[in-house]
Amino acid sequence: MDEEFLPWTEKYRPHSLTQVIGQDETINSLKAFVKARNMPNMLFAGPPGIGKTTATLALAHDLYGKHLDGNVLELNASDERGIDVVRGKIKDFARSVSMGGEVPFKLIFLDEADALTPDAQNALRRTMEVYSSITRFILSCNYSSKIIEPVQSRCAVFRFLPLTDPQVHKMLRHIAEKEGLTVEEKAEHAIAYISEGDMRRAINCLQGAAIHSNKITEELVYKISSQARPKEIREMVECAYKGNFLESRKMLLDLSTKYGLAGSDIILQIYREVSNMEMPERKKVELVDKIGEYDFRLVEGANERIQIEALLAQIMMSGMEK
Ligand SMILES: Nc1ncnc2c1ncn2[C@@H]1O[C@H](COP(=O)(O)OP(=O)(O)O)[C@@H](O)[C@H]1O
Ligand SMILES: [Mg+2]
Repeated sequence: MDEEFLPWTEKYRPHSLTQVIGQDETINSLKAFVKARNMPNMLFAGPPGIGKTTATLALAHDLYGKHLDGNVLELNASDERGIDVVRGKIKDFARSVSMGGEVPFKLIFLDEADALTPDAQNALRRTMEVYSSITRFILSCNYSSKIIEPVQSRCAVFRFLPLTDPQVHKMLRHIAEKEGLTVEEKAEHAIAYISEGDMRRAINCLQGAAIHSNKITEELVYKISSQARPKEIREMVECAYKGNFLESRKMLLDLSTKYGLAGSDIILQIYREVSNMEMPERKKVELVDKIGEYDFRLVEGANERIQIEALLAQIMMSGMEK
C-alpha cells in the first residue's frame, strides 16, 4: 500500500528495536538475544497499544534481516483460536526446513494468545516442547493469567508497561515533524491524558485531529475525542462536592452537548478527577466505591443521564456529611 494511505500507527511503527520507545528493560534483553542469536520462548504481557506486537516484529527484523520471510510465522490467535491451528499451521511451520540465514531457529509469533482456547494452549505446550531445538515462540497477551500455567512456565515472561506522558510526547513530536504539523504543548498533554499510556490511541488521536487542521490545539483534541477537558470535569465534581447540585447538573448538561460525551467516559473522567482531588481519605474511599457502583449500573444498561446525575447527587451528599 502507498505509505500515504497507511494509518499512522502502521506508517510510524518502529522497524527495529532501537526505535521502540520505552520498555527499556525488555528491549535491552531483546537486543541481547539478537546479539547472541539465541533466545528463550517468551510471553509478552500488558495492556493494548504499548508495543508488544511492535517489539516482536522489530526483534524479528533485527534477528533475521533479509531472511525474515520464511523464518517467521505470525498468527493472530483471536482470529484462529482453536486447536486445529496449533495442530495444523503451527506444526507444519515448526517442522518445515529453515529458510536460510545464520539464526538456527524459526520464530512463531502468536499475537493475542490469551484468545486461544485452553485445548489449543494444551496442544501448544506439546508443540513447544517437540520443536524446541528449531523454533522459538513469542506469545503476546493482555492478561498472563489467561495463559495456562504449563505454557507460562515454558516462557520467559516480559511485562510491558503503559507508556509515560514524556514517552507519548516523544512519539507525537516525531510524527508531527514528519507530517508538518504544529502541536500546541497543551494539545500534547491532552493527547497523553486521553490515551492513558496507550500509544496506539495517542497516534490515532493525533491523526484524527490532523484531518481537521495542521495546527493541533487542545480544544481540537478534546473535541474530536469526545472527552471533556479534565479541568471542566473537575469543576463539575467540585461544584457538587461543595453542595451546589443544580449548578453541577447544569455543567453536566453543557458538557454533554458540547462534547457529546458517553456516560461511561464521563464516569471514568470523574473517577480520575476524584482520585486527584484533595479530600479526606475516608471520603475518597466512599466516593470511589460509589463510582464503581454507578459504573456497573451503566454497564447493566441503566439510563446514562439519570445515573450520572445521581452520582453527582451522591458526591454532593458525601461532601456535605461530616
Ligand atoms: N513502545 C512503543 N514505541 C513506539 N511506538 C509504539 C510503542 N508502542 C506502541 N507503539 C505504536 O502503537 C501502535 C500499536 O502498538 P502495538 O505494538 O501493536 O501494540 P500492542 O501492545 O497492543 O501489541 C504501533 O503501530 C506503534 O506505532
Ligand atoms: Mg498487539
